[in-house]
Amino acid sequence: MTQSLSRGRVGVGRERIPIASDHAGCALRSTLATLLTELGYEVDDLGPATADPVDFPDFAHPLADMVASGAVSRGVLLCGTGLGMSYAANRHAGVRAAVAWTPEIARLARQHNDANILVLPARFVSDEEGRDILRSWLDTPFEGGRHQKRVAKIELHSRAEVAGSITMLSLMSDGEEGEADGDGRGCGTHEPGTGES
Ligand code: RB5
Repeated sequence: MTQSLSRGRVGVGRERIPIASDHAGCALRSTLATLLTELGYEVDDLGPATADPVDFPDFAHPLADMVASGAVSRGVLLCGTGLGMSYAANRHAGVRAAVAWTPEIARLARQHNDANILVLPARFVSDEEGRDILRSWLDTPFEGGRHQKRVAKIELHSRAEVAGSITMLSLMSDGEEGEADGDGRGCGTHEPGTGES
């Protein structure tokens, strides 16, 4: 399931990446669209064209449709907090839209969650931070392994689906590497910034 992250080059099948925002993300979207072009991607800018108020779902759904249908493998959304865009995009089957406000969260969203839509909280990150977050997300591959089964389970909504998938998912667990944390005796202490299991 690990997707090719090869950066497009002019004339060599450049990867098409759609990007959309609402009014709150309009200016940062333009900055990030420029970065994507500079990096060699074919940018599909879905708007809006101005910072006049719009409703974020009107821009989230068309982009999420493109990812869900397989027309593109990934896309970028922006709104003020990132939350509204992520709620709307994550309604689409197969979409994993991750709000990232640091490059590290963007990296983990790829490594652990195979996030196929990056959502930026435009009112809470600078242009420079936004560019760093986007670069981190673009350049990080999905790690697979123990995360493969967890990502597969995201799509299971009903008890029947879960029951039907138990065999498949336990097969996927075979040979899985051990967890780094936990001794089976409770949650331990909360230590932000430690562990990536
Ligand atoms: C617009 O003011 C704001 O609500 C929107 O950009 C977003 O943050 C919604 O989740």
